[in-house]
Amino acid sequence: MIDVARVRADTPGCLDVVHLNNAGASLPPRVVVDTVIEHLELEARVGGYAAADAVSARATAVYDSVAALLSASRDEIALVENATRAWDMVFYALASSFNPGDRILTSRAEYASNAIAFIQVARRSGAVIDVIPDDEHGQLSVDALRAMLDERVRLIAISWIPTQGGLVNPAAAVGAVACDAGIPYLLDACQAAGQLPIDVDALGCDFLSATGRKYLRGPRGTGLLYVRRSRIAALEPPFLDVHAAQWVSRTSIEIRDDARRFESWEHSVANRLGLGAAVDYALALGIADIAARVTDLASSLRTMLTAIPRLALRDLGVERCGIVSFTVDGIDPYALAARLRAQHINISVSTIDFARFDFEARGLDAVARASVHYYNTHDELARFVDAVSDARGAA
Ligand SMILES: Cc1ncc(COP(=O)(O)O)c(C=O)c1O
Repeated sequence: MIDVARVRADTPGCLDVVHLNNAGASLPPRVVVDTVIEHLELEARVGGYAAADAVSARATAVYDSVAALLSASRDEIALVENATRAWDMVFYALASSFNPGDRILTSRAEYASNAIAFIQVARRSGAVIDVIPDDEHGQLSVDALRAMLDERVRLIAISWIPTQGGLVNPAAAVGAVACDAGIPYLLDACQAAGQLPIDVDALGCDFLSATGRKYLRGPRGTGLLYVRRSRIAALEPPFLDVHAAQWVSRTSIEIRDDARRFESWEHSVANRLGLGAAVDYALALGIADIAARVTDLASSLRTMLTAIPRLALRDLGVERCGIVSFTVDGIDPYALAARLRAQHINISVSTIDFARFDFEARGLDAVARASVHYYNTHDELARFVDAVSDARGAA
C-alpha cells in the first residue's frame, strides 16, 4: 500500500496544484529535484568533466535501476533524451532494410511521432503501413493481427498505452503473436513506464521505448530504450558518434556491442542521475502498488464524472489505466483546461494531431485528459469534478 501522506510530503508541487496531467509530465519527488540540482551545482563548482568523473559509479548504476524496472539486463539498456528518440533509433535502424511492399503493422492508438516516422519511411522505401483494427472493446484485436500476418510483415510496432486515453492494449498477447511469427516487435511503453509493472520477457517485445518525465516522475529530457540482447548485433543505429563506435583506423570503425550503441556521447549527467533517482523511488514504492492505486483512483474518477450531465467518457479497452479522457457537450476542451488552470488544476487536451488513426476512426477532434498518479487524492478528484461541473453550468 502506498503511504499517500508520505509521497505527498515528498512532492513539493502537491502544495501548489491539483496535478492531473501525469500523462504529460508528473510532479517530480523532492529527491529527483535535489539530485539534478546538486549535480548542476557540482558542475558549476568543479567543471562538467570532473563532476561526471566524481559521479561515474552512480551514473552507471542508473542502468541497473532501469534494467530492474524492465526486468532486463544492463547491457540491453540505452539512456537517451526522450521516448521518441529511443523509438526512432530502433525504427530507423530496422527501416534501413525495408523494401517496396514490406509491411509495418501498427495500432490504431499509435502516437503521432511514430506514425510520422512510418510515413516518412514508407515514402522513401515503398513499405506499407497497415493499421491493426480494434476489437469490439476498442483495444487492438489480437485475432485481426494474427490474420494480417504474411511473409511481407517486417515489423509490429504498437503503443501499449496511448497518449489520448485510458486504453491498455494487450501488449503481451501481441508479443506472443510476434514471437511465434518471428517478427520484430517494438513496443511504445511511454505511458506505461512507472504506471504498470514491466517485464520484457513476459511482454515478448524485442524493443521497448519510454520517457522519464511522465509516470516515472523523472526530469524532462530523459528517455530509455530496451533492446533484446539477441537483436543488438544485427541492429546498426541510424547515426553513430564517438561513444557509440570507435574509430579504429583511418577507414574503419567498431560499433559497441551493447545497447549503448544507440546513445550519444554528450548528455545531461544531472538529468540522467535524476532519472535514476526517479526509477529508484518508483521501485522502492513498488510498481504493483503504484499500478493498483493509479487504477483505483482513475476508476473512481470515471465514476464521479459520469454524474455530470452531457459528459461522455472516452476511454476504450477492457483494462484501463490512469488516463481518463472525456468530452462535455458545448464545452471546448481547451477552454475547460484553461479555466481549470486558473483554479490551479492541471489537465491536458489530446487532439487529432497526436493520434490521427484513432481520432478519425471515432469522429473526434479533441478530448479533455485528466491523468492521475498515486500521489493524487480523492479530495483532489472531487475538487476537479466540481470544477468541471461548474464549467458546464457556466457554459
Ligand atoms: C504513447 C506515447 N508515445 C510516445 C510519446 C513521445 O514521448 P517523448 O515526448 O518523450 O518523446 C508520447 C508522449 O506523449 C506518448 O504518449
